Amino acid sequence: MSAPARIAVDPALVERMIRELATDGAHGETGVWRTVYSPEWVAAADRYAAWCEEAGLRTRRDAVGNVWGRLEGTDAAGDAIVSGSHIDSQRPGGQYDGALGAIAGLVAIRTLKERFGPPERPLEAVALCEEEGSRFPAANFWGSRAITGAIAPGDPDATIGYDGETIAAAMRAVGLDPARIPEAVRDDIDTFVELHIEQGPILEQAGLAVGIVNAITGIRHYVVELTGTANHAGAFPMDLRRDPMAGAAEIVSGVIATAHRMGRPAVTTVGRMEVSPNGPAIIPERVTFTVDARHPDPVARQVLYAKHEALMREVAARRDLSISWHTTFDQDPLTCDPAVVGLLEGAAAAQGVPALTMASGAVHDTQRMAARSRAAMVFVRSRDGRSHTPEEFSSVEDCVAGIEVLAAALHRLAY
Ligand code: GLV
Ligand code: MN
Ligand code: MN
Repeated sequence: MSAPARIAVDPALVERMIRELATDGAHGETGVWRTVYSPEWVAAADRYAAWCEEAGLRTRRDAVGNVWGRLEGTDAAGDAIVSGSHIDSQRPGGQYDGALGAIAGLVAIRTLKERFGPPERPLEAVALCEEEGSRFPAANFWGSRAITGAIAPGDPDATIGYDGETIAAAMRAVGLDPARIPEAVRDDIDTFVELHIEQGPILEQAGLAVGIVNAITGIRHYVVELTGTANHAGAFPMDLRRDPMAGAAEIVSGVIATAHRMGRPAVTTVGRMEVSPNGPAIIPERVTFTVDARHPDPVARQVLYAKHEALMREVAARRDLSISWHTTFDQDPLTCDPAVVGLLEGAAAAQGVPALTMASGAVHDTQRMAARSRAAMVFVRSRDGRSHTPEEFSSVEDCVAGIEVLAAALHRLAY
């Protein structure tokens, strides 16, 4: 079918869905605390399923709890065009990270169904169960990994949460059987388009509501453990100490300085630290912290990691500390499918929405979905570039502009 006149999305519907989904796990005035397989997550998944039913989509849950709403195509054998994102959150996060993309896929498909009837190819909206790793630090992309067959048989029992529970136990507690995870694999998705808030300041600086993502950064998460000797904070002379906090302080500032020196787009963050025994008058026994390090270039990414590891070894040796680390998350960068990027750019132009083609510094389920499908993303401007905080905000107008671009792209792909 030739491209139609502008596709309009109902702002009231978008706003209602954002606010209602945010009630599941509401945290303070504007925050959301909704970790995978928690009661709040169950409520959000149920709500999304009810919305899919209400839109007249064939609704089902898969083996990891991803919620799917399908609009059948007239070409029964056609592979699906899918749009969605994750409904878990940071602890706490905001109302938009992931949630907006799950809503966007559903609103776009509902809008297309109401205006154009059945598509030629099946269209599906999806609420992915987990992306953040906020309850189980090594679970990242649990939903999209299940769809793409990237969960190994031993993973459910080996993926341990911050409270010591396995993800296998958490799945059973909400009625899901980890042994059935392979049933979630999909080989019939032609194209995946994820809408997401930008989570950074680039669109705002450019004065644009919408971005088209042509590349996504690579990431590694280290958990570093430095061990020294616990002792009295007053009686033990400085020159005789094995103080893991002194080593941690040097490493933390060193890895951050390394990313600074490499320059944009290298980034390194230490966001979590545990001190044991954690008393003001005790030289610690152990300091454990995370290092989140990202670069979109595969070679520069390895250089960044090599520099970080060399520094960690050097500081520990010089200070006579034991050091060990493991990685909980390691994801290659992605170059998005050029044809889908071009199609999204065309859809934005046809909708009269000026859009910036840009790279993503956040990681996304799209990186996993790209293993078996063509994939790219639409970004929506974030106020002050803020995200992973209850303060994150995108205006309804910007969200609608992004969803209209998404709807126009899905129309091109499926009708
Ligand atoms: C996604 O949540 C990220 O940390 O980039
Ligand atoms: Mn996200
Ligand atoms: Mn996130």
